[in-house]
Formats: sequence, C-alpha cells, structure tokens
Amino acid sequence: MTAKDIFGGLKHLFAPLLLVSSLVSAEPVGRDEPPLVVAPHGMVVSGEALATRVGVNILRRGGNAIDAAVAVGFALAVTLPDAGNLGGGGFMLLHLAGNGESIALDYRETAPAAASEHMFVDNSGAVDIQRARFSHLSAGVPGTVAGLAYALAHYGSLSLKDVMAPAIRLAEEGYPVSGALAELLLKDVRHLGRSAASRHIFLHEDASPYKAGERLRQPDLAWSLRQIAAQGPKAFYGGAVGQRIVADMMRHGGLISLNDLKQYRPLLRTPVRGHYRGHEIIAMPPPSSGGVHLIQMLNMLEGYPIARLGHNNGPTLHLMTEVMKRAYADRSRYLGDPDFSPVPVRGLISSAYADVLRQAIDPEHATPVDGPGNPIPYESAETTHFTVVDRAGNIVTNTYTLNFRFGSGIVSAGTGILLNNEMDDFSARAGVPNAYGLVGGRANAIAPGKRPLSSMTPVIVFRDGRPVLATGSPGGSRIITTVLQMLMNVIDHGMNIAAATAASRMHHQWRPDKLWVETGLSSAAAKFLKKKGHRLISAAPMGVANSVMWTDEGLQGVADLRRRGGLAQGY
Ligand code: DON
Repeated sequence: MTAKDIFGGLKHLFAPLLLVSSLVSAEPVGRDEPPLVVAPHGMVVSGEALATRVGVNILRRGGNAIDAAVAVGFALAVTLPDAGNLGGGGFMLLHLAGNGESIALDYRETAPAAASEHMFVDNSGAVDIQRARFSHLSAGVPGTVAGLAYALAHYGSLSLKDVMAPAIRLAEEGYPVSGALAELLLKDVRHLGRSAASRHIFLHEDASPYKAGERLRQPDLAWSLRQIAAQGPKAFYGGAVGQRIVADMMRHGGLISLNDLKQYRPLLRTPVRGHYRGHEIIAMPPPSSGGVHLIQMLNMLEGYPIARLGHNNGPTLHLMTEVMKRAYADRSRYLGDPDFSPVPVRGLISSAYADVLRQAIDPEHATPVDGPGNPIPYESAETTHFTVVDRAGNIVTNTYTLNFRFGSGIVSAGTGILLNNEMDDFSARAGVPNAYGLVGGRANAIAPGKRPLSSMTPVIVFRDGRPVLATGSPGGSRIITTVLQMLMNVIDHGMNIAAATAASRMHHQWRPDKLWVETGLSSAAAKFLKKKGHRLISAAPMGVANSVMWTDEGLQGVADLRRRGGLAQGY
C-alpha cells in the first residue's frame, strides 16, 4: 500500500460536493445493525472472531478481564496481522472492580535515540513520505509486548505462558484465512512485497496472496511468541527476539538499537476525566489526544439541547462540526508527548474554556478555516480496538496499532513481526499534514525517546459510579469523532449500542475544511449543512467501534460491521 495507492483507492473521498447529493437519500437509510450479543457474566468484543473466542475461553476458565485482554492482544497479533501486533503500540484503559480504580496504561512507541527532528525532511525541504511511512526508519520502538506483559503482571491472575498459549498455537498450527483478511491481503500485495520476510509469510511463491480458507502458518512469529512466553518481555527488549529485530534494522538502515529496546518502558498515566449530562467520562490522556478532545467536544456540546435537536439532523450536525473544528485546531497546536513539552490538559478540558469556545460558534453559519490541508486519507482497518469485561466487573478497553494496515509492510526478518510506521504520527515538519491530514507543530516534533501524538481513544463511561459503556475505535484522525458519536448516540439519543454503532457518522478535523459524511445522511440534513456553508464530502466507512454496554438485561456487546470479521461473544 503506497501513498499513491491510498490516494487512488479513496479518490471518492475528494469527490466534488455534487456527489454527496447522489449519496444521500430522502430519509436516513439505516445501515445493517450489527448483532447485539447479551450475556450475564462477561463479554469480549474484538475485531477478529478467533481472538474473541480465545478471550472468552480464558474468562470461562476463571481468568479475569486482564488475563483475557492480554490473551486477545497476543492472539490478534497472529489472527489480525493488519492491526493486531507485537511490533506496534497502544493504550489500555483498565477499571478494577476491587478498588474502583481506573488506570491508563500507555504503551505507545517511542522514537529511537538516534531519531532527529528533521529526519524525514529531504534536501528540498519536503517530507520524504517513503522514508517516513514505508521504511525501517518509520518504526518507533514497539511497546505492545511491554504493555501487555505489564498489565498481566500487575492486574492479571494467570501466567504469561497461560495467556500466550492460544496465540502460539494459532501461529504454529495456522488458521484458515478469513474472507476479511483475504480481501486485505489482496489489496496490499504490493505493500507486503516490501520485505522478503513479509512476502514469505503473506504471499505464495508466485507472489499471490493467501486466499480465504487457506491455512496461514507463521512459524517465525510462533518462535518469537515462544521466546516471550518463556522468558518474559525481556526476550523482546534485548533478548533473542530483540537481537533479530536490531540485526534487521542494521541491515536496512533502521535506527532501533538494542539499547532503545532495553530502555523502553510502558507508563502509567492519570486518566483524563470529564462529565457529560450526568455521566462521568474516563479516557486516555496525552500522548493520546483522544481523551482530551473527546471531553473538550462534549463540554462544548453540553451547552446545546442535542436530544431535542435530534440525531443526525442538520442543526445537530452543524453544531457537532463547529465543535470538532475547534478541538482539532487546538490539537494541532497544543498536543504532544507531555514528557517533552507541557500540554495544557486542564485548560483544554475545562468547562470554562468550552464556554468561551462555544460563544464563537455561530448557529447560522460555518466558521471559515484558513488554508487547505493536504490529507492522504486512509481505510479503516489499520488499528483495532477490543473491550473485555469479566464477572467481577473488571474492564479492559484497549486500542493498539501498527499505524497503517500491516504497518510499514515490513516484517523484521526471522521474527515474523510486522513493524509499525508510527513515526509518521509525529509532525515531520511543522504544518505539513501526516497521513491522516493532521497538522502539528513543535509539541509533536520528533525527538529521541519521545512518543508520537495519537488519536486512540479507549474510554469508559460511568453513571453514579457504575459503568454504562466501554468503547473505542480505529480510524486515525476519525477515532476521536467516532467515539464522540458513540457517546452522543447513547447519552443524548438514547440508542442501544447496536443502533449507536450502525448510525451514520460524520467527521471534521479543522484542516482541511471538509465535512466527511458516511452514506445514510438524509437529503434534508445535507441541504441544511450546505446552506450553512459546510463543504460536504462523502466518506468511506469511518471507525470500527467495538463496545460493551451495561443494561438491565445484562451486558450487551457489539462488534462494528464496518470491518468484517469482528465478534462479540459473552458467557
Ligand atoms: O495513533 C494514532 O492515532 C494512529 N496511529 C492510529 C492509526 C489508525 O487508527 C489507522 N486506522 N484505522
């Protein structure tokens, strides 16, 4: 998947306004609602069915939500190679039933020690996309193995060997390729052709991809997993697996050294907290921008009678758009790794600041935005979110990623591990948009050891101290607005999570000044928005929310149908 392919594949995102009128209908068209799974004790919702079953088996055997989540995380590295990973990073939000504590675990990648601010800027001053996204240089030091092992050691009840056994078996014995995976492999033949090791795993000798039903075995990945299961995370962070990663880096001009791996640490952060119409929101703090802007947008929206204005009606969508613009404009300026420059989190999530921002929102007109961005859009199958709940009430809601689908497309030789291209989430040059069209400045400039800014937004919503909803999504810059709409659909519009998930989504990120809308918007709403001055663009499906909701009938789980192959299963 080259940058050109991404452009080509999604040309329709840039289609002229006219196209939108052909995509909207007189009445809102519901997309198919995903199955609503109800269970009394526990629930696992993930982006891939085999991995969901691995998690449910652990819960059934008496493992807690953390045991199951870690098992799902390792299993997805095998069964959902486009997004599940050992070579990437992410964020886990945990809620412990015992003491009521909520914990934010940051296992985001870090820039290697040899990284430098302008490492992706070429002699002409342009950002070298090939190096930033599709080379060994595009990989940050992976955090997934450290993050999952940390969660298990501190909050789990089973051994690493126990929870990794299913992943090892799936890698060793293989599994029949699903229709969903076969489709992605076919799309990404060129992307996966980037390294001999990835070709060897995902393509046949004649360079054709594995097809649905064919058995995909990953012996090198099984070897890596076995080393980690036997020796713990140090096998990856300096041991046999790490040594292979570093040898491959050295052969291909990558920067990750053994020392970088040894220095890597997952970090506990204080979750950001906010309130929305009597609910408490607990979400991921920087270096994810997700929690901060989710709460900032909710703060602004709380000043409007959203329920009365109605779901996906013109006036509601106008206000949501204006709110999104303001949050993403702040993101471009203030957000980055808080260990490198202070992020004004308190100010950004304060309701007083939201009041000020709200005053500048004109209910009658779109506020102009200066200057177009230059986004390379994406498809929404590159990151993955899973949510696990156990009988005791422990909750894990986790988003992790390689960044692009199959990351940089490069497998580290001998390890079976796909490398992330998360370095592109930094601002390679101030004001130059990254792959998601997001712009940034100094706060998100590259520096050794620094974590690139993320949009990943695992979140838990409580009411009167009891959990109501746990969710999260992939989707690059669209993650935060997808999660926002999940919360609004449940809290403002009283939907159950199947309806909340199926509802058409919209997105604005300040730059470029475009309002992306999924199919299903009514023609009346589209007309209203255009009249207000919004520039509508028809969007490919945005986000893949995998959620659990607590109801009087029991736990409800829903896997978003925008990506095939997900599964909600309870017990
Ligand atoms: O951390 C981030 O915000 C991005 N690396 C996430 C990438 C993503 O969600 C891709 N897509 N579906």
